[in-house]
Parts: sequence; structure tokens; C-alpha cells
Amino acid sequence: YQRENFWKFNDGQVPLFNTHPDKLEELAKARLTQNGWYYASSNAGLSYTHLANREAFFRHKIVPHQLVDTNERSMRTEIFGQKVSAPIGIAPIGINKIYHPQGELPVAKVAGELGIPYSLSTAGSCPIEDVACANDAGREATRSASGNGDAHGAKIPPGPRFFQLYMPHDDELTISLLTRAHKSGFTACILTTDTWQLGWRHDDIATSNYAFYRGIGADLGLSDPVFQKRLAEQGIDPAKEPEKAGAMWIDSVWHGRAWSWEKAVWAREKWRQISGGAPFLIKGIQRVDDATKAADLGFEGIVVSNHAGRQVDGAIGSLDALEAIAKKLGDRPNFAITFDSGVRGAADVVKALALGAKFVFIGRLWIWGLSIMGEAGVRHVLKGLLGDLDILMNCAGLNTIEEIDETLLESLPKAY
Ligand code: FNR
Repeated sequence: YQRENFWKFNDGQVPLFNTHPDKLEELAKARLTQNGWYYASSNAGLSYTHLANREAFFRHKIVPHQLVDTNERSMRTEIFGQKVSAPIGIAPIGINKIYHPQGELPVAKVAGELGIPYSLSTAGSCPIEDVACANDAGREATRSASGNGDAHGAKIPPGPRFFQLYMPHDDELTISLLTRAHKSGFTACILTTDTWQLGWRHDDIATSNYAFYRGIGADLGLSDPVFQKRLAEQGIDPAKEPEKAGAMWIDSVWHGRAWSWEKAVWAREKWRQISGGAPFLIKGIQRVDDATKAADLGFEGIVVSNHAGRQVDGAIGSLDALEAIAKKLGDRPNFAITFDSGVRGAADVVKALALGAKFVFIGRLWIWGLSIMGEAGVRHVLKGLLGDLDILMNCAGLNTIEEIDETLLESLPKAY
């Protein structure tokens, strides 16, 4: 009998670099340009929301079980009816060419290899179709490396992939993006509602970073037939004026003009028609009333998230928001409460699951891996996180993800 072995200390596996989140930041900072580092690391305002995200985890302590037979434990679970290796997914993050010349491709590939969901941002720097191919190639690599699909000691299930939508104020363009995503095998759509425009981030603003990242890579948009039409209408030839074309794409993603619940329902209905009824989630929910509205309107789920603290400074820690939302809506059928913002290790994943998240997404951890060492760096960080979770389950007497609930935690009252 062999379990998934994402990490084996005694197997001659040599760590590529230290996976402590503080060390990852240090290494990534040393590799990135100052503009790149500022874009990735900056938070809204004084970083109070970022701090609140971390602080929220400290309030909850895991109380481990002892002498439980965990020899056949498994991190596997499922999301929207698809099996996955662990309740951990790649959060959507745009413009990956800031971090590595291959952009989104290595990340999508590694997620496919490991059997965890990949999310592609509308602000991606590679075409949707290429990212889908890379994700498939990762799955295929695991299948063929193992003969019987056994590369990590057990069969890795094929991971689903999600398309994150920043909805442009151009319906034809939105429909084109959703159609491409569906044709490329994306199994769910995630509408991000907390970022019509980027938050007030001092480092970015001080360095005029808007100009920097608009010039980095916008191939997801530039490869879109409707967007190509828009460029032609403006007399912009992307071959001659790539910066101008890239800027026009970024401006149609972060346009600054708010949308409504009605429009979110419109997008969901379009996605349902295009995809034949695939799930549609709202990302950026922090309030119980908004979460309730999403459930009442029939969305298949939410991502409780504050965008890693990059949007509204002085906001509630995302884990605190999750706790309140899950208390109210945890029992709603066909409504997936998922979570991100501030996760830095397996203990954080377990705490979020215990407080009612069905699934946890990670952002900055994988950007640092990508920045440090491209594909190998992302693989190292993600395998490390999966290894960390497997070991935590072994040491805390946990056999399955489903058994993780609030009885695992001792929680201090809120200090505020
Ligand atoms: C993001 N995030 C994000 N979200 C989204 O829906 N579309 C996007 O394009 C981006 N881009 C992006 C860039 C950078 C540099 C960061 C740090 C974050 C938010 C992301 O999906 C996720 O919500 C957070 O990153 C989760 O928090 P942690 O894990 O980074 O703490």
C-alpha cells in the first residue's frame, strides 16, 4: 500500500529552496525587478487588511488527536463533482509574465500534474487555449510517467480548471471570453467582484507601476477575436504598437466602472448557456448579507476573499468573514463556500476547512515559487504545501478532509 507521497524526507529528495513563506518572499524579491516586486507584494493602504488576514488565523488553534490510525489517510476530496488531490487550488493571478517569461503556462502545468484545480485570471498574459494545453500536458505527464497513473504512489485525479472573469463593459467581449474558456475545457467560472479597479497601493502608485504592467503581457486579450476587432476599430495594430494594445486590454479589464447583482446574474446565465450549466462563483465576498444574496440568487458558490488585502484597507480578516458566513450558510445545499487570503501553510488550510470552507485557494505562495525558479519553483512550493498537509493530518490524527470540522479548533474570542 502506498499513499500519495508529495514529499518524502527519506527518499533523497533535495529541497530546492527553503519553503518558509518569509524565505520565499526574500528569494522572490531578490529575483524580481523592483516594479515586479512592488506589484506582487503591495497591499492596499497601510496593509492593515493583509495583517488582519494573518491575525485571524492566530485566533484559532488546532487541538490534535493522538493514537489514531492514520496509515491510510487521504487528502483527496472533490469539488463540483470532480475528484481532486487536495482541497487546495491555485488562486487566479494576472500577468504572470511579470514573474516568469513563460507566464501562466508552468503554473497550469504543475497544477495539472498534481491534480489540483487551476484558476486562470482574465488579466493573464497567455492565451486561454495555451493555458488549457499546458494544464492538460501536466495531467498527461503524471499519467504517462506512472504507467497506471501512479507517479506519486497513487492515482492523481485530473484537476478541474476555473476561468476567473473580470467583466469588461463590452458584452460581446465577455461572451467571447466565456466561449473560449468553455471550449478550452474550463469547468467553472469565477466572477471577481472586488476589483473593478486596483486598490490604492502606495508602492505601485509611487513607481507608476500601471505603465509597467500594462506593457508586460496581455496575450489573453490580444488573442481574442472580439478584442482584435476593437483594436482595429481604434486603428491600433498590436504588431506595431504592442504597448498601446496591451494598455487598452488592461484598461478594459480594470475599467473602474462598477457592476451590479443583476449584471452578475446576466453573466451567469450566459455562462450557463455557453457551458451547458457549469458552476458560476462570485469571488470577493466578505459580508454575510452578500453571501446570502449570492446563495438566494442561485450562484453555485462564493470565494470568501479580500484579494490578499490588496483592495480595501482596514477590512475584516478573510478568515473572520468566512467564520460568520459559514455559520449562516454552511448548510445550504448546492452552495460551495470556498476561501482565500492569507494562507501561508497547511495549518491555515486546515483552520479554514474547520471553519466551514469547502476549498482553499492560495495566491502569493505560488507567485513566489514561479518568481524564484519557474516551473520547478512552483512545483516545489505546491508539493511542499501538499506534503505539509499530509504530515499535519498524520500528526493530528486526521484521516480524511471531510472529518475536519470546528471540533478540531479551540478559538479565542475576537479581540475587537
Ligand atoms: C491577485 N488576485 C487576483 N484575483 C483575481 O481574481 N484576479 C487576478 O487577476 C488577481 N491578481 C492578483 C495579483 C496578485 C499579485 C495578487 C497577490 C493577488 C487575488 C488572488 O486571486 C487571491 O484572492 C489572493 O492572492 C489570495 O490571498 P493570498 O493567498 O495571496 O494571501
